[in-house]
Amino acid sequence: MSDDAFRIGILGSGKGSNLQSIIDGVEAGAIPAEIAVVISDVEDAFILERALKHGIEAVYIPPGDFKTRLGAGSEAEYVSRLKDHGVELVALAGFMRMLKEDFIGAFPGRIVNLHPSILPAFRGLAAWEQALEYGVKYTGCTVHFVEIGMDTGPIIMQAVVEVMPDDTPEALHARIQVEEHRIYPEVIRLIAEGRVGLDGRIVTIR
Ligand code: GRF
Repeated sequence: MSDDAFRIGILGSGKGSNLQSIIDGVEAGAIPAEIAVVISDVEDAFILERALKHGIEAVYIPPGDFKTRLGAGSEAEYVSRLKDHGVELVALAGFMRMLKEDFIGAFPGRIVNLHPSILPAFRGLAAWEQALEYGVKYTGCTVHFVEIGMDTGPIIMQAVVEVMPDDTPEALHARIQVEEHRIYPEVIRLIAEGRVGLDGRIVTIR
């Protein structure tokens, strides 16, 4: 760990393709930051393997007894592990639990999430399925700051994806992920460069 690097902590529960896009950006020198630690609430999540392959510390921290959030003791463990690493930005990359006040308060304005729809449409789970069922012609993905409330925080960047007449949920999600892999590393680069400002709900990029 170098002394002056901008340190990122990443939380994920799944396959970690977005972690990979961030690793690629860091390794290519496009993102002036270091991924200090990757934490998962799922012991065998592939995201942990991806981190290890790139020499990044990968930790499983048991989530506790709840399904949709972290238990109190567990939340404190996540926060202290991130603080131990001097993390300045927490990036959620497919982390399937909502963060509560204590966690968010520990990193004010310093947690970002990626959601697979054009928010505020289709909050919550499987947003690409919701979009197909609703019949929208365009959907996409959103990177936003995390605040209390599900997928409601200030929007940093969005990308649009066209819905095709014969789309399946899998095909649509795959095309959304192509855009995710483009905009998430881009947002993290801008934050690491100190170019993202927040005034109320309004995000500005300098
Ligand atoms: C992405 O679609 C993201 O929008 C959502 O969870 C998924 C994570 O995918 N929050 P991956 O694990 O990064 O491949």
